[in-house]
Amino acid sequence: MLHSKFLQTALILAVSSVGFQPVFARAADTKADEEAGAVLFRDKGCAYCHGANGAGGKKGPDLSGLRTDKLWPPAKITDQILNGGQKMPPFSDSLSDKEIAELVAYLRAKHRPIPPPSANPTPAPPGL
Ligand code: HEC
Repeated sequence: MLHSKFLQTALILAVSSVGFQPVFARAADTKADEEAGAVLFRDKGCAYCHGANGAGGKKGPDLSGLRTDKLWPPAKITDQILNGGQKMPPFSDSLSDKEIAELVAYLRAKHRPIPPPSANPTPAPPGL
C-alpha cells in the first residue's frame, strides 16, 4: 500500500517535471539569457561586423531597432543567425540552439545588457 502510493507519487513527479521542462526552456527572454547573449555577441564574431552592442559597423547593419522591427520577428532573427544572409556567414555550425536563443533574447531585450570589459571586444567569427 505504502509502496504503491510512493510509486504513484514518484510517477506523477516524473511526468510533471518532464512535462514542464520545455515550458521553462521556451521562456528564453530572461535576464540571464540576455546577459549570456551579450557576451556571445561580443565573443562569437557578431560585434566584428555589427559593432559593439550591435550599434552598426562597416561590415554589418545597425541592429539596435530589432526589438520593435515588425519585419524581424524572433523566428526570422533565429533563421538569419543559423543560415546567414547575403554577406553574413551562417552560424549553425559554431553556435548551439541555446546560444542562438540567448542571442535572440539579447537582440530583443528592452534594455540590452552591456557585457563585461574584454581585451578583444570584436574578435572575428570562425572562418573570417
Ligand atoms: C561578416 C560580417 C557579419 C557577421 C560576422 C555577422 N553579421 Fe549579421 N549581418 C551582416 C550583414 C551584412 C547583414 C545584412 C543582411 C545580409 O547580408 O545577410 C546582417 C544581418 C543581420 C541580422 C538581420 C537584421 C538586418 O537588419 O538585416 C541579424 C539579426 C544579424 N545580422 C545578427 C547577427 C548575429 C547575432 C551575429 C553573430 C552570431 C552576426 N549577425 C554576425 C553581417 C554580419
